Amino acid sequence: MIRVENLHRHFGGFHAVDGASIEIETGSITGLIGPNGAGKSTLFNVIAGVLPPTSGRVTMDGEDITGLPPHDLFHKGLLRTFQIAHEFSSMTVRENLMMVPSGQSGEALWHAWFARRRIAAEERALAAKADEVLEFLTIDHLADEKAGNLSGGQKKLLELGRTMMVDAKVVFLDEVGAGVNRTLLNTIGDAIVRLNRERGYTFCVIEHDMDFIGRLCDPVIVMAEGKVLARGKADEIMQNEAVIEAYLGTGLKNKMKAGHA
Ligand SMILES: Nc1ncnc2c1ncn2[C@@H]1O[C@H](COP(=O)(O)OP(=O)(O)OP(=O)(O)O)[C@@H](O)[C@H]1O
Ligand SMILES: [Mg+2]
Repeated sequence: MIRVENLHRHFGGFHAVDGASIEIETGSITGLIGPNGAGKSTLFNVIAGVLPPTSGRVTMDGEDITGLPPHDLFHKGLLRTFQIAHEFSSMTVRENLMMVPSGQSGEALWHAWFARRRIAAEERALAAKADEVLEFLTIDHLADEKAGNLSGGQKKLLELGRTMMVDAKVVFLDEVGAGVNRTLLNTIGDAIVRLNRERGYTFCVIEHDMDFIGRLCDPVIVMAEGKVLARGKADEIMQNEAVIEAYLGTGLKNKMKAGHA
């Protein structure tokens, strides 16, 4: 579905992404791991149109999407979530979800004037959709809570919920498990698996929790210093000498072991 070819993203003289090529197959939950500073988020940012690449190419189903802005990619069904959740804190959880779909009549003032009834109907449909999403994510009890009051993990679920308000094809999740307790992490993992199986979402998931990666992802791609180091099944990846070396180099050996003992 997504093919990244020889991608570079430099910041001044620093090569954050240094000739990375990856493929994300349709229907997969692909894991992207690697030590801190490996270039994972930068790679996501380039794919998702947040940052232009220095060079290289990104295609989606064969179509060149390199450098397209996020809203164009959104309409093609390519969505991303951020390493730090971006919620509208003073709005309720339901309202946060209702903000997502674009192209509603309510966006144009003249529509608001001439077509109030249609807008009311659209809003009801959106609210119903939001409630359905919240139920799917098992946080329907939080619908009327201000998003700013959610825990870190609940905010991550809300981010995932946003991708369900539209017909997403491929979703990029950046550290969806960071700072999330085990129970919520399982909820997030279950939601990802169900979205993949029941709704055909393709995922690419950055995560440091190796348990989570091992349970969800096939294949797993490992990045280090801006380059792709390895790709394979989670078990194989964790036996791979070059991968262990890369993690050892940054003192993350224990993190890897803890995740897959
Ligand atoms: N806007 C920027 N300007 C300069 N350097 C940057 C910028 N964004 C990222 N970098 C650098 O690029 C490198 C890769 O960063 P990136 O955030 O992609 O790593 P990561 O693999 O996502 O790490 P982590 O696991 O810690 O989130 C880091 O050394 C970072 O400091
Ligand atoms: Mg990152």
